[in-house]
Amino acid sequence: MSKKNKIFAKDLSEAEQPRAKGKTESEMLSDDELKILSAAHKDFDRSTLPNYDNSDVAKAKRYAKKNKPTVIFVSATVLLLIAVIATLSVFLYLQGRDAPSTEDFKLTLGEDEYTLKYKSAMRDDVLYLDIVQIARYTELVISGSANAVKISCDDGTYVRFEQGENTALVNGEKVKLGGVAEIVQLDSESEGKMQCFIPYTFIERLFSHEVVKGSKRSVYVSYSNKTNEILIHRISYKDSKEALPIGFSADCFDLVADSLLKEDADDSIYTVLKENFLSMTLLVNKSNPLGEFFTPKGLISLNDVGCPVAPGREFLLEETAALALTQMLLALGEELGRNAPAIVTSAYRSYDYQKALFEKYVQNRVARGMSRAEAEKDASRTSAKAGESEHQSGLCVDLIERGEKYLSVSFEESDCFAWLSENAHKYGYILRYPKGKEHITKYDYEPWHYRFVGVDVARVIYEDKICLEEYLARY
Ligand code: DAL
Ligand code: ZN
Repeated sequence: MSKKNKIFAKDLSEAEQPRAKGKTESEMLSDDELKILSAAHKDFDRSTLPNYDNSDVAKAKRYAKKNKPTVIFVSATVLLLIAVIATLSVFLYLQGRDAPSTEDFKLTLGEDEYTLKYKSAMRDDVLYLDIVQIARYTELVISGSANAVKISCDDGTYVRFEQGENTALVNGEKVKLGGVAEIVQLDSESEGKMQCFIPYTFIERLFSHEVVKGSKRSVYVSYSNKTNEILIHRISYKDSKEALPIGFSADCFDLVADSLLKEDADDSIYTVLKENFLSMTLLVNKSNPLGEFFTPKGLISLNDVGCPVAPGREFLLEETAALALTQMLLALGEELGRNAPAIVTSAYRSYDYQKALFEKYVQNRVARGMSRAEAEKDASRTSAKAGESEHQSGLCVDLIERGEKYLSVSFEESDCFAWLSENAHKYGYILRYPKGKEHITKYDYEPWHYRFVGVDVARVIYEDKICLEEYLARY
């Protein structure tokens, strides 16, 4: 039997009996034994114990009292430990609360909500968003291909991304992207047709800086890395509720040195426009094609609004442009005292129609003995290739004098042309391919081709004697 068990085996009532005289306390019980025995007397009041009592029990009672500080010390240590553990837990909890969430993202675009998978949106610890989706929501013009995507604003400013590049072009200036652009082509049936993933921080700066002529920021962009919520919405004027205009500037980005670059956009194969949105200053030329999949919304029949057109023909044009054109041609008739002296001979042309038309011009030249290459080069001086024609925008028309059958430079000798040259801008129209600007427009002079840009832009172009490319290059 061990010493400890021996003590437990003792009958305490027996242990309380006085011990044989002549024995010292230490001989009677060891410290261990006293410790165990004293546990039963830990609450004993020492003052009630007679001085002469040297029994084991009295000793144990005294021992219990004497060791009280140890008990206090142990209790204090335990309490301290509990306090440390609690503090540590609170600290870790707070740490956890501050750590970024790894849940999927919730993207709110205006009224619409989307869930973005954490794994696909987060790349190398950088959050990426599809800027095409945002541009569609903010009603900007999107054009591009598998290699490049361009987002243009109504004021002519733009940003352009190239597949796999860590820089972007903002109004011709090369800026750092903070990541790598990834362009994804979807099948042609998809509503969006393409996606372009760009670091969130770039998008935030692009849309959030104070933009158009002293106005406040035009798009609110925010992201919380605690909740993974991304919020993007357009800001409207308080009174009219009309959305503020959007413009891009390279000012808020880090420029890449010596970076004023000429844009190379002949890789664009399609453009997506938001429903019923058409920029009046939409630039369409050999370097800025609309591509195969572009169809303008809001086209109406010129016949339906009483616009004078070539007999037996029906033409479509964007509604605002159509109404302005009708007023212009009726005013021309009144001024010259003749019923509709100038009529429409071409307006909106689809991609397929333009393709067939250009091919017809090429074949005519081939029939006259030119090689295919020579024929194409010559035809493209006055006719656009499919996807490159401004007629595909639904914003321009070709005019001839009533009674004439074909387009001709001799139209410039007519009184109609004289009147249009001084008055078209009042109706928002400009002569799109003027004499002397061929090196800029890349087309021969066309006195018959008029483009709707709205009265404000048309007035500047008329007064400054510039072409649309020159006007847009100012911004
Ligand atoms: N004649 C113009 C350039 C066109 O074909 O669109
Ligand atoms: Zn034309």
